Amino acid sequence: MKISIRHLSQIYPNKNRALDDVNLEISDGLFGLLGPNGAGKSTLMRILVTLMKPTSGDVLVDGLDLHKHRKEIRSKLGYLPQDFSTFPKIKTWEFLDYCARLAGIKDKKIRIARIDEMLERVGLFEAREKLANKLSGGMKRRVGIAQALIGDPKILIVDEPTTGLDPEERIRFRNLLTEMSREERIIILSTHIVGDISSTCRDMALLKQGRVSFNGAPEILIEKARPYTFQIVVDDAGLEKVKQEHIVISTVPVENGWQVDIIAENLNGYNAQPVEPNLEHAYVCFMELLN
Ligand SMILES: Nc1ncnc2c1ncn2[C@@H]1O[C@H](COP(=O)(O)OP(=O)(O)OP(=O)(O)O)[C@@H](O)[C@H]1O
Ligand SMILES: [Mg+2]
Repeated sequence: MKISIRHLSQIYPNKNRALDDVNLEISDGLFGLLGPNGAGKSTLMRILVTLMKPTSGDVLVDGLDLHKHRKEIRSKLGYLPQDFSTFPKIKTWEFLDYCARLAGIKDKKIRIARIDEMLERVGLFEAREKLANKLSGGMKRRVGIAQALIGDPKILIVDEPTTGLDPEERIRFRNLLTEMSREERIIILSTHIVGDISSTCRDMALLKQGRVSFNGAPEILIEKARPYTFQIVVDDAGLEKVKQEHIVISTVPVENGWQVDIIAENLNGYNAQPVEPNLEHAYVCFMELLN
């Protein structure tokens, strides 16, 4: 599958420019959409799942125009919205049964088999008889991913699925998505948590105020930050000074003061050492320093 996003802009009726000339090519595998609050991630996802028509621009799915072939493309889509919730008084398996019907699985036997398979896959088989809206936050998210996957979509769109999850549950979730991305499928994952964009995302985009400020492999993003990533050791007064002048990423106490990682154009006047950048350095670098 291939999604081509061309000159996509979204201006809300109140003049909020949520997307500004977004251009992206997305192919099979896990695609990470990283950006701070308000960057336009959910807006882009709502357009991709045909819930919203953009102000201008096109989306092509395998060469077909998203809006002209809405019905056809919808049948290939799975979506976990940012504000996903189930209904009260419905058991976990019943909720999935309802979703499976919506996804067009008419045969009851096939549906039940599919639900059991999904429950196993997301680790909820033991919880199948429990009320869906009484599950823990992490388990609800897993119900969310199960409902998105129930119709075996070729395109899976998940909007900030890790919000509110504890670190272990986050890792679990990430592994689940990685596993899913091994099959022939596009998975688009939006997040504002740098750690969610693991090395398993072959491709990613950085969204900043509705614009794509980077598109490519995470390793390339990291490489671009290298010239701007420094480390210095300073005393208390030096720490205060550098905090006022530059973007401080991390501060670690050491024997003779503080070891500080910094993002800066240059660090003239400090005895700065280059330091190996990571994705967090790169993210801050793009958000605060570059374009
Ligand atoms: N229905 C709407 N009407 C007007 N403005 C909106 C609407 N929905 C979103 N916006 C605005 O569009 C911009 C992008 O919002 P969006 O929800 O797409 O960002 P996001 O990246 O998903 O943020 P978050 O990380 O907080 O979920 C924001 O400035 C937001 O206030
Ligand atoms: Mg959002």
